[in-house]
Amino acid sequence: MKNLLSVEALDAAAIAGILESAAAMKSTRGNHASHPLSHQCWALMFSKSSTRTRVSFETGIRELGGDVMFLAADDIQLGRGEPICDTARVMGRMLHGAVIRTFAQKDVEDFADFSRIPTINALTDEEHPCQILSDLFTIIETHGSLEGQRVAFIGDGECNVARSWIWAAARMGFELRIAAPEEFQPPAELLARAGGRVSVTSDLREAAASATVLYTDVWVSMGKEQESAHRISQLQGYQINGELCKLAPGALVMHCLPAYRGKEIDAETFEANAGTIFRQAENRLHTQKAILALLVQ
Ligand code: CP
Ligand code: NVA
Repeated sequence: MKNLLSVEALDAAAIAGILESAAAMKSTRGNHASHPLSHQCWALMFSKSSTRTRVSFETGIRELGGDVMFLAADDIQLGRGEPICDTARVMGRMLHGAVIRTFAQKDVEDFADFSRIPTINALTDEEHPCQILSDLFTIIETHGSLEGQRVAFIGDGECNVARSWIWAAARMGFELRIAAPEEFQPPAELLARAGGRVSVTSDLREAAASATVLYTDVWVSMGKEQESAHRISQLQGYQINGELCKLAPGALVMHCLPAYRGKEIDAETFEANAGTIFRQAENRLHTQKAILALLVQ
């Protein structure tokens, strides 16, 4: 595997390989037998804010023996209009790999093509593959397997995180139920292309009933800030809270973070599940180290 650009582009064996390697990365942290990124220099090129993704990649690259620079897209010529294909051709001649957070999926794909160095999608408007791969790892770590899981995604069902969940369910065969108001449901074309056991409803109680995982993400994704008021009014009620949790006893409550208490999750439920949610955040580090090591093999 040369790049990690989407969950869509992965098959079940590739996903299973990453998850297995993530477990090894976690159990050997601080004592790795090899440092596959030694003598390498990677860049993180981000056009959107980040806490978890930035910190976990910077830490992970260093723990694997590599060096890393953070480039805020606005601080380099890209921000003044230099095309991605030129930026990629320059960076490809100097760096050993790149981790990119941006808007258009095509920009990450063009970067990979033009730079010819290993490229990782650290979130686009279409997918957030590193997040969902880490989340699969957290589910396996807790529930033992993906088999038999019923994941209920509550909230903005057409956002990047929901889309990556759709591809993960299609590839790994578990059940995914998306609960969102009609306006924020994933496009029918995407659902048809992905296949798998994915259902969509506007009834969040139906989606949550007997789920093994209750998952949510922000109502207002980065880049959608101008739609904030509309989104908040339309998504009102699509919240993970104590009442909803009663419908899914024993379910893992997950949130990719950052969390907006009182919107997609209530404060009490968030705190009651903070152990899972922050382990979920920590697992970004281990899973992304697995991805990095795989890409430089
Ligand atoms: N979940 C996630 O990707 O968080 P950041 O935006 O802080 O990187
Ligand atoms: N859907 C969110 C995920 C944040 C990690 C966003 O794109 O802002």
